[in-house]
Amino acid sequence: MKHLIAPSVLAANFQNLKKDFDMINASEADWYHVDVMDGNFVPNISFGMFIIKQMKAMATKPLDVHLMIVKPEKYIEQFREAGADIITVHYEACPHLHRTIQQIHTTGAKAGVALNPHTPVSVLEDIIEELDLVCLMSVNPGFGGQKFIYQVIPKVRKLKEMIDTRNTKTLIEIDGGVGLQNAEELLKAGANVLVAGSAVFKSENPLDTISRMKGIEGMVI
Ligand code: DX5
Ligand code: ZN
Repeated sequence: MKHLIAPSVLAANFQNLKKDFDMINASEADWYHVDVMDGNFVPNISFGMFIIKQMKAMATKPLDVHLMIVKPEKYIEQFREAGADIITVHYEACPHLHRTIQQIHTTGAKAGVALNPHTPVSVLEDIIEELDLVCLMSVNPGFGGQKFIYQVIPKVRKLKEMIDTRNTKTLIEIDGGVGLQNAEELLKAGANVLVAGSAVFKSENPLDTISRMKGIEGMVI
């Protein structure tokens, strides 16, 4: 499978979202990465289902919704109704993670789990078979435009090994500080989905940046 590119709309121009959505629709990007922040799990507030519904109306590609919120189980159905195709919850926010993953699957969405930079991938050993995606945070969640934390690279390798050993189809997504400067290393370590906010939207030619990220040779899987 060729790797996927998921531009993070957090870095888009919210004064003219339509223009950026038209651009992403026409690009080689695969998904929209949509960051929901509650000012509680993370020290920032972004937007919720009302805005996601508007995004869904403009997007021709799947919405990959990253919930950086406490008690995500309260809102899974609402995010699904708003248009989420993939719903990712944080390991650190879910005491009953298995139940929450089942709840996401019941809505028909794909289910993901995100791990903060300090959380080891080993915590997923007994749930990996249930997951469509694992999002490894390569920044502390809450803001776009932060510096990439390199310690994520060995985590990608470890997770890839776990996935291969168990023979699951779980995708490895990397989120935070990803761009042309580290994409190849991430792909070679085993990443399947690259989230990129600033690297895409703040670049001079976003279409070209996406195309170049998509064109990198990674690992053949
Ligand atoms: C961080 C978010 C990221 C962020 C990535 O909390 O989860 O998705 O938008 O932005 P960049 O690519 O600018 O680091
Ligand atoms: Zn994110």
